[in-house]
Amino acid sequence: MGATGATGGALLRRLIELDIPCRAVSRTPAKLCAAIGVETPVEVVGADAADPRALRTAFDGSTQLFLAMANSPRQVALEINAIDAAVACGVRHVVKLSAPAAEPDSPVAVSRGHWRVEAHLAATGLVATLLRPYAFMQKLLLNAPAVAQGVLIGAMRDVPCNYIDVRDVADVAAETLLRPGLDGATYALTGPQAFSHPELARLLGELTGRPVRCIDLPPDDFHGHLVRTAHMPDWLASHVVEIQQLAVARPESPNDTVETILGRPARTLDAFVHEHLAMFAPVA
Ligand SMILES: NC(=O)c1ccc[n+]([C@@H]2O[C@H](COP(=O)([O-])OP(=O)(O)OC[C@H]3O[C@@H](n4cnc5c(N)ncnc54)[C@H](OP(=O)(O)O)[C@@H]3O)[C@@H](O)[C@H]2O)c1
Repeated sequence: MGATGATGGALLRRLIELDIPCRAVSRTPAKLCAAIGVETPVEVVGADAADPRALRTAFDGSTQLFLAMANSPRQVALEINAIDAAVACGVRHVVKLSAPAAEPDSPVAVSRGHWRVEAHLAATGLVATLLRPYAFMQKLLLNAPAVAQGVLIGAMRDVPCNYIDVRDVADVAAETLLRPGLDGATYALTGPQAFSHPELARLLGELTGRPVRCIDLPPDDFHGHLVRTAHMPDWLASHVVEIQQLAVARPESPNDTVETILGRPARTLDAFVHEHLAMFAPVA
């Protein structure tokens, strides 16, 4: 599930690379087919997670499920539908994309939702692997237009924040699906280095060759900026603010889980920015 998304898409590319037969589920299968081409071991199936019957058809005969779902007010219900369909279809193992601070009293609403899904999964008795990655480097691209104008806006003061490349999350997901002994555990996933916003602004300035000024707003002002200027829905703006306040309350530091599982270092933020340098450039 989530094969058209950031993490699921990267996982699908990894499974294709490894020539592993798999089934990719999307609400828009034609678009997914066009994206992956024809010469692959992937079977593309159309299903909406709001439709339990379609999910059961999609999962029929499967042994393992990778479950990634977009954040939305319906996320918990959709993921629970997918887990129930997995149970009905005799799936053995679920790898769920979760998030840090997935706890019943988490200060982050989305993480409380992840905890509810994790608890539902635990109650099924299926083998459950929980991936809890920190902030996706790929989401930094949402800041690219502002960075191109020379500013980085946030509400994180100068606390360190973990970033991870979704391709590393996907590579770890593939290992947990394919390598016996890695399943059934919970993994907090980070890149190799944590960055505060001022450090991130400095790195972006160095790599783009143009100064980037860090603007730190009070959380309510940042929320207003995200809704009015970035045109985010209220719930998503609240999520971004909550995630940043989580880092303030619980300063983050990197771990070596990605390297331990993959046998190679995690991708760096430096390399990620280099790869996407053109996107941080001002529009001519
Ligand atoms: N962003 C971060 O920094 C971060 C950090 C840690 C954890 N996370 C977690 O990562 C997850 C999101 O992962 P992502 O960014 O890789 O995903 P994404 O790019 O947002 O893609 C989400 C996927 O959800 C699928 N989807 C949405 N509604 C659906 C429905 N009704 N039925 C079936 N599929 C549906 C979409 O599939 P179709 O459109 O093809 O149907 C799409 O492939 C969230 O749970 C988030 O909490 C994010």
